[in-house]
Amino acid sequence: MRRPICRLLGVLGGVGVLLFLSVLAFPSSSAAQQAPAKPAAAAQATDGFIGSDTCRGCHEEVDQKFAATKMGRLLLKHPRNSLESRGCEGCHGPGKAHVEAGGGKGVGGLISFSKNDPTPVEKRNAVCLQCHEKGARLFWQGSPHESREVACTNCHRVMEQVSSRFQLAKESVIDTCGQCHLQKRAQTMRSSHMPLREGKMTCTDCHNPHGTVTPALLRENSTNETCYRCHAEKRGPFLYVHPPVQENCANCHDPHGSNHEKMLKMAKPRLCQQCHIETQHPTTPFSRAAESRVLGRSCTTCHANIHGSNHPSGQNFKR
Ligand code: HEC
Ligand code: HEC
Ligand code: HEC
Ligand code: HEC
Ligand code: HEC
Ligand code: HEC
Ligand code: HEC
Ligand code: HEC
Ligand code: HEC
Ligand code: HEC
Repeated sequence: MRRPICRLLGVLGGVGVLLFLSVLAFPSSSAAQQAPAKPAAAAQATDGFIGSDTCRGCHEEVDQKFAATKMGRLLLKHPRNSLESRGCEGCHGPGKAHVEAGGGKGVGGLISFSKNDPTPVEKRNAVCLQCHEKGARLFWQGSPHESREVACTNCHRVMEQVSSRFQLAKESVIDTCGQCHLQKRAQTMRSSHMPLREGKMTCTDCHNPHGTVTPALLRENSTNETCYRCHAEKRGPFLYVHPPVQENCANCHDPHGSNHEKMLKMAKPRLCQQCHIETQHPTTPFSRAAESRVLGRSCTTCHANIHGSNHPSGQNFKR
């Protein structure tokens, strides 16, 4: 029951800090706040474009690395429309002032996407969304990452290729997410886990980091629908259903990994005893006298079909 409140406080706290920081960064930020994040329109209004060839003169190495990426190849060599043919300036904005001042860090009002870039995150992201707002990013606006001011470039490195696919900020999806979700990454290293660290599946098999209409950024409508994609046999239909299974697989499993067998959230019999009190058991095999026996044998030794049963006498999930 505490979690949603904590999260709300966390979000409010985060927003507070961000507001505070943006006040520090933009002492007279009313103009910046009024300006809608529409870089395309803004760019068209300011005629300060100078062309990628000029940039290449001073940024040869950067240019070569970028040209070797899928996006760079397309934008620099095979542009398909006027936006794409802006090349470097399609992302960094008009470069005339930067060039005329002889270049330099923070010179000429470019959008640099670096850590100390004063450009608001929303505006930086809008640059990318000019070309990428469809598809997986349909629900970016209002998503947990968008609303917490996570930048596209927190997860993507654009100017050079550091991941084998998708221009990620780190070598793998897990490392990319692990920059912030330290605990989730740590869980993938626990003794019981799905094959994430083995490279057979990854965070994005279950989550769409760009935003969804579902809880927890899940690709499917619910936790269970997510699990059924690969564990179809657990869907049933069953003659005898075990209510917590139907309700949420995460009642008993942590999909990110655990130190208990089969990714259980806690050891048996405690797992079961959260909901089933001792006295409920007719033969009380977990009464104090028999405790050690039960701990050794656990509840599922007898109740083996814990996810549901189709046996005519399976009401106790023993078959
Ligand atoms: C698709 C958008 C995009 C295009 C096009 C683009 N850049 Fe960048 N640039 C970025 C981003 C984002 C960063 C921040 C670092 C990163 O993500 O790689 C960056 C960083 C840089 C930096 C800072 C040094 C560095 O590597 O971090 C330079 C210099 C630079 N870009 C120059 C250029 C030049 C020159 C071109 C054209 C050849 C160009 N950029 C085209 C998005 C772009
Ligand atoms: C006369 C040389 C020169 C030209 C031409 C030039 N730059 Fe730069 N630029 C520099 C220097 C020097 C730096 C600072 C050192 C660095 O980051 O490489 C710089 C830095 C940058 C940065 C990083 C800014 C920051 O604040 O961290 C970006 C992005 C960039 N240039 C983009 C461009 C783009 C886009 C063009 C073409 C429109 C361009 N530059 C043309 C010399 C130049
Ligand atoms: C002017 C249009 C344009 C802009 C602006 C733009 N992109 Fe792209 N992007 C492309 C094109 C074209 C491709 C390659 C074709 C494709 O996959 O659709 C691409 C591909 C990508 C890919 C997939 C790379 C791969 O290897 O599959 C990523 C990730 C990406 N862009 C991120 C970004 C980010 C982050 C930004 C903002 C910093 C950005 N893009 C800005 C046009 C753009
Ligand atoms: C929280 C991390 C994260 C953020 C933030 C993020 N991405 Fe991604 N993005 C990923 C990952 C991971 C993939 C690889 C997708 C996969 O494994 O299916 C990806 C894939 C992509 C792709 C290529 C595949 C596709 O879906 O077309 C594009 C383009 C892209 N992202 C653009 C963006 C843009 C634009 C933004 C900002 C609006 C953004 N991303 C923000 C993590 C992120
Ligand atoms: C730059 C930091 C950062 C990175 C990188 C990042 N996240 Fe997040 N993520 C956040 C923040 C901030 C939140 C919102 C606060 C919270 O609930 O913890 C969040 C929330 C989430 C949530 C919970 C959403 C909800 O509705 O409760 C999921 C799921 C998630 N991220 C998955 C991912 C995945 C998958 C990746 C890698 C592709 C990733 N994140 C990378 C910062 C990040
Ligand atoms: C097999 C599917 C699956 C994979 C793989 C997966 N997740 Fe999740 N994740 C879920 C489900 C289901 C939930 C919601 C759990 C719940 O209801 O308690 C969730 C919740 C989350 C949350 C938010 C809830 C919380 O506990 O704070 C974050 C953040 C998150 N996942 C990050 C990640 C990251 C990072 C990775 C990769 C290292 C990852 N997930 C891999 C299924 C998955
Ligand atoms: C993308 C496919 C995929 C999805 C989605 C998925 N799993 Fe798995 N799961 C696997 C694979 C692969 C294995 C390991 C291979 C095996 O032994 O069957 C596994 C193994 C398991 C195991 C046994 C772990 C062990 O230690 O033996 C459990 C429990 C499990 N998954 C639960 C879940 C739950 C709960 C969900 C939904 C939150 C889920 N899985 C979603 C692919 C998936
Ligand atoms: C009431 C607790 C509980 C719930 C809820 C639950 N499980 Fe399990 N699950 C277990 C237990 C206990 C085991 C270990 C069984 C054993 O001891 O052999 C297990 C084992 C597994 C395994 C590995 C062995 C096998 O049977 O294939 C998978 C995969 C699995 N569960 C998937 C799921 C999925 C998918 C859901 C949601 C539809 C789910 N579980 C819901 C308790 C639960
Ligand atoms: C989150 C709560 C929860 C957990 C955890 C849980 N159960 Fe249940 N279980 C239920 C509910 C609710 C019922 C249905 C009770 C009813 O219909 O009266 C049920 C029914 C049963 C039944 C069928 C008998 C009956 O009363 O209908 C058995 C046997 C059973 N559970 C065993 C287990 C075992 C073994 C575990 C541990 C692996 C476990 N349960 C974990 C909630 C839970
Ligand atoms: C030695 C085998 C065995 C073990 C171990 C065992 N049970 Fe049972 N359980 C049974 C049998 C047999 C029944 C049905 C009794 C009957 O029909 O009289 C039953 C019935 C139940 C019922 C249904 C009670 C009712 O009101 O109908 C629940 C709930 C249950 N067990 C939970 C558990 C839990 C939780 C554990 C672990 C702490 C556990 N069992 C361990 C054999 C076992």
